[in-house]
Amino acid sequence: MTHSQPDSSRAPRRIVITGGAGFIGSNFVHHWCERYPSDRVVVLDALTYAGNRATLATLEGRDTFRFVEGDICDRALIDRLLAEESIDTVAHFAAESHVDRSIIGPGAFVQTNVVGTFTLLEAFRQHWLSHNQNEDYRFLHVSTDEVYGSLGPDDPAFSETTPYSPNSPYSASKAGSDHLARAYYHTYNVPTLITNCSNNYGPYHFPEKLIPLMCINILLGKPLPVYGDGQNIRDWLYVRDHCSALDTVIHKGQPGETYNVGGNNEVKNLDLVQMLCDTMDELAPDLPVRPSKDLITFVKDRAGHDRRYAIDATKIKTELGWTPATTVEAGLRQTVEWYLAHEDWWKPLLSQEYQDYYKKVYAPA
Ligand code: NAD
Ligand code: DAU
Repeated sequence: MTHSQPDSSRAPRRIVITGGAGFIGSNFVHHWCERYPSDRVVVLDALTYAGNRATLATLEGRDTFRFVEGDICDRALIDRLLAEESIDTVAHFAAESHVDRSIIGPGAFVQTNVVGTFTLLEAFRQHWLSHNQNEDYRFLHVSTDEVYGSLGPDDPAFSETTPYSPNSPYSASKAGSDHLARAYYHTYNVPTLITNCSNNYGPYHFPEKLIPLMCINILLGKPLPVYGDGQNIRDWLYVRDHCSALDTVIHKGQPGETYNVGGNNEVKNLDLVQMLCDTMDELAPDLPVRPSKDLITFVKDRAGHDRRYAIDATKIKTELGWTPATTVEAGLRQTVEWYLAHEDWWKPLLSQEYQDYYKKVYAPA
């Protein structure tokens, strides 16, 4: 079901994808354009440090594709875009997404994740009302498992009914945005759908996140900073599997519902880093330090570091027929191969801004 053929009787959609120059958003843009080449696809992205238009270069110039640089907090811009493009579908990815940055500077998280989501929802509500509450319209709000807080070793995985318990400014701001998306359905009947997904990995992942950071540091012969004791657990999902889940939710999900999305791949951070080291040692001929495990360095723990995340994805499987297609072993190997082959993509991202950020997190004064 995950990679089923698109329904040939399906009417084309006109979709705006916010945050489409970021990691998951750009993978979703590529997924959508490959699968539904007749659809109108409009990307709205502010091109913050995490946005990279080069990721979409192969799509620019297609007459079904449009890139708009802009902020989701800019109501006038959104009103104009929804109207002039006759948008029927919003896939909302735009966010400040990195927990460590939310610890250093939470303000931008409240602004984009809460105020930005509110601005989009309100603009979409007016647009939908002015189209007689068209029943084909959809607003997909893409969220995270971090809103549920942290699990103990024997706790059951997060389900859609797990109470919210966010622990970082990032997850608290995402929780706020989820509540708004939910409220817009319950109060106004706006056809919102919410997904809460576990950790993604794959191509076009910004270097600050665990997997790309480790791949790049191995290639550069730099220390591999593991927070705390390295025993924190994350549930890893290959990004293209996340995209297929979101596609399924847009087409088959019930407005007003939440769907948890996960890979059923719980791995301890230290084990994951060791897997990456082994794969790099095998695939990369000229590593500056070999074995690359010698680079592993335990560093100060992240403040408020959640111990364990795990997703129970039973609902999306049983109600919508979605399951992930990629094992963590295959996905990590593909990801390492991708970083090896795309130095031209990641090297320019190691900018002065990135170096300054890196110093703040890994070598605080
Ligand atoms: P990312 O940081 O890679 O990309 C975010 C994108 O949003 C960037 O292109 C950025 O330029 C854009 N953006 C930021 N602020 C904006 C604004 N005010 N207006 C317009 N665009 C703006 O993030 P990601 O990892 O791709 O995550 C995408 C979404 O998925 C987020 O909502 C995140 O909470 C959620 N999510 C991420 C993961 C994960 O593992 N990365 C897992 C579950 C859910
Ligand atoms: O669970 C979904 C979330 O996954 C998304 O909502 C977030 O947007 C996304 O950033 C991600 O959050 P995490 O904090 O789990 O991802 P990150 O890659 O930052 O870290 C993964 C784990 O690795 C976490 O336990 C912290 C640890 N870590 C991370 C970095 C960057 C390290 O040990 N060292 C590091 O240098």
